[in-house]
Amino acid sequence: MVDLREYYNKLYSEGKEKYWNDYSDSNQTLSGSRQFIIDLVKRKNLNPSSILDFGCGEGNFLNYFSKKANKIRVGIDFSSVAIEKAKSFYPKINFILGSEDKIEGTYDFVTSIGVIEHTDDPALHFKKLYIATNRKGHLFIVCPNHCNTRGIIWQTLSLLFDFPIFIG
Ligand SMILES: C[S@@+](CC[C@H](N)C(=O)[O-])C[C@H]1O[C@@H](n2cnc3c(N)ncnc32)[C@H](O)[C@@H]1O
Repeated sequence: MVDLREYYNKLYSEGKEKYWNDYSDSNQTLSGSRQFIIDLVKRKNLNPSSILDFGCGEGNFLNYFSKKANKIRVGIDFSSVAIEKAKSFYPKINFILGSEDKIEGTYDFVTSIGVIEHTDDPALHFKKLYIATNRKGHLFIVCPNHCNTRGIIWQTLSLLFDFPIFIG
């Protein structure tokens, strides 16, 4: 976990979060799962008053999801570089440095996008987020599906040549 944290600190310091980060106010759509969540909220007319984004990175999804200051918005991430950037970009959102043990209370809406596949204990990750979700709330845990042509090619290259998931 320490290695992974350092790895993410390095990525955020070098600005390489752009490989998975596609948030900008000029974007009309986000990548699949993120846009799916936004669309679902609109379609079901959901109006969560509290939101937790675990593994929030620089806080862009939390900000994109809701710009309303009257909502409780909490982001948690174990990368100090990401959390420092998040705090400077979005001072009205509550960003917390840490991991699952930093989760306190319950929320109407809990998201974990591209995080569970990195955790040492995915079952614990799920349990902690489930417990943090209000009874009638929503929990979204999103992870990549490598059971497709792109995934199989990457996994093969990764196993044979230690090919990185990001190039650059
Ligand atoms: C692929 S990035 C996704 C960032 C963000 N969720 C998004 O959709 O843009 C994964 C994020 O999870 C964080 N992360 C990974 N494992 C974590 C853990 N055990 N506790 C807290 N944060 C973690 C990393 O620091 C990184 O910011």
